[in-house]
Amino acid sequence: MTDVELYQKAVEQLEKAYAPYSGFSVGAALLSNDDTLYTGCNIESAAYGATICAERTALVKGVSEGHRKFKSIAVASSSGDFTFPCGICRQTLVEFGPNLRVIVGNLKGQIQVFLLKDLLPEAFTSIELDKS
Ligand code: THU
Repeated sequence: MTDVELYQKAVEQLEKAYAPYSGFSVGAALLSNDDTLYTGCNIESAAYGATICAERTALVKGVSEGHRKFKSIAVASSSGDFTFPCGICRQTLVEFGPNLRVIVGNLKGQIQVFLLKDLLPEAFTSIELDKS
């Protein structure tokens, strides 16, 4: 799957978002090392802090299905502009690999690709993580 295709999967997730409080929908698409796709959206809560972001929704789906290695994650939002994973999502994702490719895009059809380790330099860890 190309980066553009993965970003398109993230865009498709926007309609699944449950964001009645912020009105800000986010979609994510996560590709495992064996090319299994996991998608996610943000799911908000009346207890605001219980909200889960799109990226972590996709990640927990993937990990709970047995995957621990991922190639890329794409993120889209209803802003239509480049939307980057929040700090909590960066920290949660880095657990499964600092070399994860992070794809962001906008409604003009432009995409940008980053490495997670560049978005979260000197990440906190307390065990040796698999960096492959
Ligand atoms: N949100 C995400 O889903 N991912 C991010 O990386 C940043 C923020 C969600 C959380 C909340 O539902 C809404 O966007 C506004 O913050």
